[in-house]
Amino acid sequence: MPERVEIVEVGPRDGLQNEVRLIPTDEKIALVNLLSQAGFRRIEVASFVSPKWVPQMADGAEVLAGISRVNGVRYTALTPNMRGYAGAKAAGVEEIAVFASASEGFSKANLNASVIESLGRFDEVVRTAKGDGVTVRGYISCVTDCPFDGPVPPSQVAVVASALKAMGCHEISLGDTIGRGTPEAVDAMLEAVLNVAEMDMLAGHFHDTSGRALDNVDVALERGLRTFDSAVGGLGGCPYAPGAAGNLATEALDAHLITKGYVTGLNRAIIAKAGRMAKEMRHGER
Ligand code: HMG
Ligand code: MG
Repeated sequence: MPERVEIVEVGPRDGLQNEVRLIPTDEKIALVNLLSQAGFRRIEVASFVSPKWVPQMADGAEVLAGISRVNGVRYTALTPNMRGYAGAKAAGVEEIAVFASASEGFSKANLNASVIESLGRFDEVVRTAKGDGVTVRGYISCVTDCPFDGPVPPSQVAVVASALKAMGCHEISLGDTIGRGTPEAVDAMLEAVLNVAEMDMLAGHFHDTSGRALDNVDVALERGLRTFDSAVGGLGGCPYAPGAAGNLATEALDAHLITKGYVTGLNRAIIAKAGRMAKEMRHGER
């Protein structure tokens, strides 16, 4: 039996959050509706963050209200604090994500908080969500390199992973936010994190700035990870991480995994169509 790898589609959030053009809500809804037909189990559709910080994500509630939900697909959103959680809960998300950084520089730039302060905020969010039956993913950014602090020691990533696990995150997504991670650095980071968290609770989130994302996926597959994040059309980046170019493209990741003999359950034609739609949205051609 071929082994299954889950691809988590993050394009509507991690892709669109970084676009210069303010994307109309109905275009976001159309993209999510198409993605809902592609076979994903999870689609990250929104962020309930400060609209002053990320104006592109200000319409998260409208996006979640407007989409046609498909059975078996969980629609997820980022929540940095209790206010964000309240918004996401009211919008009916089934899973939220809190997002920490392994480096202090990015934590300050992205959350206006130190790593410890951010974990303190997340603790209440995670406890409340779990009490409500909402599952929580924990992201860690800058797992190999930080745009402000430079190379990040693997031990720092392990400390944050351990904290997110202790809080009750069911999954930890390891973000190479600026796509500077080499396979060697990713491997060393995974070795440290696997000392504190099981491989089946880890996901790889590799931006493709340096064209190494698929190599980093391979290293993570070797280490036993079976969940990866990507964005159709290779959209995205992070507005608070200078140099964070596109995410790994879902179409490329899917083709790569299939070639390696894994099953993803995705419909190739639909993700290709969604990739084209995403690129048109970027250029304002829709
Ligand atoms: P702050 O300025 O320290 O917070 O920002 P504050 O509490 O002083 O609030 C500032 C204003 O925002 C206030 O409004 C709040 O009410 C409002 P004002 O009184 O000035 O009118 N506010 C909110 N509004 C809506 N929803 C909320 C919310 N919270 C406060 N939830 C804060 C702190 C965390 C809010 C801010 O830093 C923030 O929103 N950061 C989010 C940044 C972000 O979304 N970055 C991109 C996602 S992370 C990423 O892309 C990496 C990832 O992909 C993994 C990887 O690649 O590594 C996940
Ligand atoms: Mg990202």
